[in-house]
Amino acid sequence: MGRIGITDTTLRDAHQSLWATRMEIEDMLPVLERIDAVGYHSLEVWGGATFDVCLRYLGEDPWERLRLIKRYAPKTPLQMLLRGQSLVGYSHYPDDVVEAFVQRAVENGIDIIRIFDALNDIRNVEPAMKFTKKAGGLVQATVVYTVSPVHTTEHYLKTALRLADLGADSICVKDMAGLLTPHRAYELVKLLKSRLAIPVQLHCHYIGGMAVGAYLKAAEAGVDVVDTASMPLAFGASQPPVETVARVLEETEYDPALNLKALFEIAEYFDDLRKKKGQERGVTRLHDMRVFDHQVPGGMISNLVSQLEEQKALHRLEEVLAEIPRVRAELGYPPLVTPTSQIVGTQAVLNVLAGERYKLVPGEVKNYLLGYYGKAPADMDPAIMQKVLGDKEPISERPADLLPPRLAKMREEISTVTTNEDDILSYALFPQVSRKFFESRLAGSGRPETVGKATRLGSGPGKPTKEAEDSMNLEEIRELIKLLDQTDVSEFSMESQGIRITIKKGKDSVDALSQPAEVPPRANTAVVETTAVPESVPVAEEDSTTVVAPMVGTFYRSPSPDAQSYVEVGDTVQVGQALCIIEAMKLMNEIEADTAGVVTAILVENGHPVEYGQPLFVISKKKI
Ligand code: CO
Repeated sequence: MGRIGITDTTLRDAHQSLWATRMEIEDMLPVLERIDAVGYHSLEVWGGATFDVCLRYLGEDPWERLRLIKRYAPKTPLQMLLRGQSLVGYSHYPDDVVEAFVQRAVENGIDIIRIFDALNDIRNVEPAMKFTKKAGGLVQATVVYTVSPVHTTEHYLKTALRLADLGADSICVKDMAGLLTPHRAYELVKLLKSRLAIPVQLHCHYIGGMAVGAYLKAAEAGVDVVDTASMPLAFGASQPPVETVARVLEETEYDPALNLKALFEIAEYFDDLRKKKGQERGVTRLHDMRVFDHQVPGGMISNLVSQLEEQKALHRLEEVLAEIPRVRAELGYPPLVTPTSQIVGTQAVLNVLAGERYKLVPGEVKNYLLGYYGKAPADMDPAIMQKVLGDKEPISERPADLLPPRLAKMREEISTVTTNEDDILSYALFPQVSRKFFESRLAGSGRPETVGKATRLGSGPGKPTKEAEDSMNLEEIRELIKLLDQTDVSEFSMESQGIRITIKKGKDSVDALSQPAEVPPRANTAVVETTAVPESVPVAEEDSTTVVAPMVGTFYRSPSPDAQSYVEVGDTVQVGQALCIIEAMKLMNEIEADTAGVVTAILVENGHPVEYGQPLFVISKKKI
């Protein structure tokens, strides 16, 4: 026992938890040297959501960010968070992608890779561990902490022992929801330290405030390293502040011996930055204190709030928080961390908004039920599986065993745009987002058009985007429906931006559209029928149906993430055939045709944002 080490998470987890991951490399550069001089055990600077957000929202190359951080903070080991077989994405990648990704991460400057699997399924972390060691990096294998009938102390010990057997250089206990009470922290760390020969690190989120107590008790139990953040980016959904933890441990044998004066200078820098960027401090809300009821991590609550804001249903947060533990139990008690937090959270949101449980089920939830994310900690509810999967049988093998190598194909696919290995990996992880990023980089703008768009996570409802202004104005349509309802007219047509909109009177549907905050209009109830006007597209005005967006999100013409081609005007489609993807709440939702027919119009451009009920496709039931 003795002095404990401190990992600084300010440049990764802290801004992911509080600022929706919006810290840019320009924000970091002026302070990197000072952080490097503090005497931290390590700096967590990469991985998690930072990779995706760099490409998607910041117009920043995540690999270049890593190289710059390494250049300006060369002394302190750099650390990243890796989601096992999902790397820094949301679904599993084949082993060849995993190997190349961790190798390039180490070559670009990462020293320690913290590897976890949301389900604590060892099969999902084994390849990343093996490849990290092969690349010369240190493996910090992770035990994800949660509270459930199956998450016993024995479960954590068993998991940690197996990870140590696989060659872990250290073990991290990851408490993303702030559920670890000080006395349990003591028990768990004591037990792990008594059975393991490798260092144990504790990663807690502040949430309800127990983390500081947990760190002190863990220090007494012999923990080697704990995670903190600079004060302006600490508290709330983030880590506890380094200034407090360093003070708490002062005058004890655990004193991390950090330069407190330097820490306050750094804190001043980040507080100025916070104000400049218009970001809030980490705060603990009543919902956070109730974490033992709903078990939702603080960062996930922020996401739920912005999801519900986007879907114009923020007032239903309580219902969603009550629905989450129910969905979680039905899905076999997954710990709520990316991607299972999105899977459980989004299904809970859809269960509440759709008015019927498991009526709308995203592909990711189906895949989870089918075992494509690994083995759930406990048995899943057979009735839910039957309702969602029908006759489909879940898999029992390691999910990535079913994935053929992908890197060569990806390299070939993007070869006309880039041949850089790091770019190819970005593309293998996020094809659509990366292609857009490369194209805007080639065009010289450096920043994709999504920068500053209203759908930034956690930033609340912003100004409408250019795209949203160009698309049909739903408010206007709602107003028209209200007007229509007060008159004897039963049908009304208008033309707007090349699209003819026909609004028909119908009690249910009028309700659906005039109370958008409570009942989202759904594909099968929408009364707004649109048909494209362009002369080149022959349109059957009768017997045509419109497929509308069932949620707010981004429209992708690709009918599935792996599709080779798009559905085009003139194509004949079948009931249940996937037409496009709407990416919402970090999930790819395949939108299916609910009538057979010929596609006569595609009303949204690839990559553009869509609103609830916005028409996407027109399908003519008559053959033209
Ligand atoms: Co965390």
